[in-house]
Amino acid sequence: MPETTAGLLAQIADTGRDAVRGGWSRPVFSSAERELLEWSQEQCTRRELDVDVDGNGVLWAWWNPAGLPLVDAVVTGSHLDSVPGGGAFDGPLGVVSALRAVDLLRQRQVAPTRPLAVAVFPEEEGSRFGIACLGSRLLTGALPADRALGLRDPDGNTLADAARRAGLDPHRMGRDDAALARIGAFVELHVEQGRGLVDLAAPVAVASSIIGHGRWRMTVHGRGDHAGTTLLADRRDPVVVAAQVVLVVRSVAAEHPGTRATVGRFQPVPGGTNVIASRVDLWLDVRHPEDAVTAAVVEEIGRRAGAAAAGEGCTVEIHEESLSPTVDFDPALRDRVRATVPGAPVLATGAGHDAGILAEHVPTAMLFVRNPTGVSHSPEEHVEDDDAERGSVALADVLGALLT
Ligand code: GLV
Ligand code: MN
Ligand code: MN
Repeated sequence: MPETTAGLLAQIADTGRDAVRGGWSRPVFSSAERELLEWSQEQCTRRELDVDVDGNGVLWAWWNPAGLPLVDAVVTGSHLDSVPGGGAFDGPLGVVSALRAVDLLRQRQVAPTRPLAVAVFPEEEGSRFGIACLGSRLLTGALPADRALGLRDPDGNTLADAARRAGLDPHRMGRDDAALARIGAFVELHVEQGRGLVDLAAPVAVASSIIGHGRWRMTVHGRGDHAGTTLLADRRDPVVVAAQVVLVVRSVAAEHPGTRATVGRFQPVPGGTNVIASRVDLWLDVRHPEDAVTAAVVEEIGRRAGAAAAGEGCTVEIHEESLSPTVDFDPALRDRVRATVPGAPVLATGAGHDAGILAEHVPTAMLFVRNPTGVSHSPEEHVEDDDAERGSVALADVLGALLT
């Protein structure tokens, strides 16, 4: 008797729990994320799927009972890594629902006329190496391998070293046209990360678009000095500037309706109670449905940050780490998915997904499952058991329609 979606989720509920921050921390290539990947591989093997981890660390598990050529495949899946102190469902729900959907398709005795693959993409959050959707960006060539391999985590490890330690060969990382050519359609199920479905009192939605988003690394340079001996008039304190930058970010966002702008990481260096920092590293996340507005917001933040820095005898640098334009999902596939999940509302999302990267290359769709708290990237993210099952059934309905 195959497990329900909730039953499968219960098996991984404790993996990566973070006793310090609360919630779950599963950075890519950490023991928690690897444990989840091994669990997923084992689940795929139990279902007699053919499992392969490619050069970019993407897991592919094929259900192809008719032994068809691996072209025009229907692919479904998500990610297992998390933000620091995140929720239990962002990523794993899509992987677990994909497994459950395979069980349901088998129960329904679906005879697929196209191959199906469950896929798991590494580093969707970019919480370790800074760039979101790293696996799908590598696969599609959106991020060149030579740039990716040099990315460093907060401890200074390069992606190349971390990948090697996880058993991957960095020389095999990069654009993979053969893998991309196998995909005929990609459908990602994901926990909803806002209140859309709660407000509409519906369990499952179909995605219309992902709003454009980007990440910028800002560095405020000042002069490190002694907290007790340096008079206020003599200070060039980058923390004072960085604090103003945070407020500038909020003001500029408020002046451009629809903007979401966040400073979620703020790191004085060297970081001592009795030390005036020599620099502050800040990471800026800006999102808006219109890419031109995102660009204008970032430019204005840079201008006002520069003025704030000059007032304290500091300087500021701003460096674009990643930029993803607004993605409108394939209308024909979206309409097919809507027809398969009657009554499902169509929602845009402000969260990024591997589906958004793949959408530039293959017809792509997403399903969202209701999150009663409306909160995500936090331990408060939640999905009720019944809704998790409804999501898997909807996914099985969609996959079944695409496979036959
Ligand atoms: C990932 O969830 C993101 O939107 O940053
Ligand atoms: Mn996320
Ligand atoms: Mn996610």
